[in-house]
Amino acid sequence: MTDTVPDQKHTDEVAAWWRQAVVYQIYPRSFADANGDGIGDLPGILSRVDYLAELGIDAVWLSPFYPSALADGGYDVDDYRDVDPRLGTLDDFDAMVEALHARSIRVIVDIVPNHTSNRHEWFQEALAAGRGSEARDRYIFREGTGPDGSQPPTDWVSVFGGPAWERVDDGQWYFHNFAVEQPDLNWDNEEVRADFLKTLRFWSDRGVDGFRIDVAHMLTKDLSDPLPSRAELALLPQDGSHPLIDRDDVHEIYAEWRQVFDSYDPPRTAVAEAWVSTPERRAKYASAEGLGQAFNFDLLVADFDAVEFRRIIADNLAQATLSGSSTTWVLSNHDVTRHATRYGLQPLNGRHVKQGTEWVAAGGPEEQLDREGGLRRARATTLLLLGLPGSTYVYQGEELGLHEVADITPAQRQDPAFFRGAEFDGLGRDGCRVPLPWTADGSSFGFGSGGAHLPQPAWFAQHAVDVLAGDPSSTLSLYRDALRLRHRLQTGESLEWLKTDRVDVLRFARPNGWQVVANFGAESFDLGADAEHVVLASTPVSGAALPGECTVWLAPDD
Ligand code: GLC
Ligand code: CA
Repeated sequence: MTDTVPDQKHTDEVAAWWRQAVVYQIYPRSFADANGDGIGDLPGILSRVDYLAELGIDAVWLSPFYPSALADGGYDVDDYRDVDPRLGTLDDFDAMVEALHARSIRVIVDIVPNHTSNRHEWFQEALAAGRGSEARDRYIFREGTGPDGSQPPTDWVSVFGGPAWERVDDGQWYFHNFAVEQPDLNWDNEEVRADFLKTLRFWSDRGVDGFRIDVAHMLTKDLSDPLPSRAELALLPQDGSHPLIDRDDVHEIYAEWRQVFDSYDPPRTAVAEAWVSTPERRAKYASAEGLGQAFNFDLLVADFDAVEFRRIIADNLAQATLSGSSTTWVLSNHDVTRHATRYGLQPLNGRHVKQGTEWVAAGGPEEQLDREGGLRRARATTLLLLGLPGSTYVYQGEELGLHEVADITPAQRQDPAFFRGAEFDGLGRDGCRVPLPWTADGSSFGFGSGGAHLPQPAWFAQHAVDVLAGDPSSTLSLYRDALRLRHRLQTGESLEWLKTDRVDVLRFARPNGWQVVANFGAESFDLGADAEHVVLASTPVSGAALPGECTVWLAPDD
């Protein structure tokens, strides 16, 4: 197994490959199913390497493919150094990495350090070993309250809804920030720390280029007595001293991890999933002494609005300067409603719920999903993002113009957030995790020969890869064209804002003279003589009029 992408010279530029990379997120169970059991697998990914290469991405990030009972879509890990037998073997993993590297596509894997699954051998050991044991010290066990300890230690609520403590047979309680099947690890425990270093080396040795760190801001905790109540907890500032969230001491862990990353050539990269309160707090995760990069999720909650986009872009570029890292841009991932759908609901960033068989925006006028408008806006924002300095994360299926799938019955749903009533947009996260359509006909739209583990709607046929691939105006073609041209556009990591005299039109230039003009408004915008320089448009442009809800790239004369 090679340590590095083959044939590359080690230069600083190679080491910094991630700074302006386009990273494609694969949710492995829903990407491609090679053996027809209804679940996507690693041989399935291998079979689609040509597709990924043609798309023009720089890296893939694989959501967890480790052994798991899927209580939380694989984020409940039974064994961090193996492949779920339903998804393949370690040999399949090696073959996949080799094929991706052969096409110059880097590989990022997901590390889930906040919690294991309840089936992990450590947790099983902890249950068997009983109170006060070393095995229990790897997790967060406590006595309950009330005269007989039958009440949980606190009234805290888990992220997915319901109590954050679960009682075990001998009467003790364990803490779980997420599902009951995801007991939180105790990061004060040396064995826990050492074991994750081993995991990072395990995958690095297998040629993995980087890591995405799940809930990176929650690992360390201060659970000294007296524990605050839920209400008190909510009032505590998240300034590094909060008992559960974004504590300063978490960075000691990442400093240790950095030593491991830097012991490889080129150094392994990492990106933090850190939902923290300010850009300054986020910069700590992105520092060169820490993980190196952190997700910027601001656009996941932003409206389709030029002023808001401009503020977020400016803030995040400034923050990248602060940390020395590069910015990340994300419009969709496996945890949120697909952006085409968010922009198709009123207000134009849907928090949506389902009424009957229709989507309606929560808190907004009850309007049906505007599929066309949503996709038009999604294409416009995607092209804007791909023109920005920094790296962009693309979630599988967005290149097919997919909308969120609403028609999943409760019996078919898998997301624990749905069942425990947490506020993940009311319907939970299954709607963005439906297996991809590869062909307009055939079993499960070409996903595999044995059906799909979440139901695919009939309209998936219109979004199938084989339909879109030959159509130059399709969303897939737009992504391919943009990623091809992006190599010419991406030079220095800066931009200069240009005046437009319109508050709903953003325009900026990159150091090499490439420009991006994004019209968020309904009225067209006059490009004047610059119309000649349009090399790419999110929707057709004729003459000098940039239509509403459209983004273009302008290239300077050679
Ligand atoms: C992260 C993941 C999400 C998962 C949670 C718990 O937020 O992105 O899918 O449910 O962590 O691991
Ligand atoms: Ca399979």
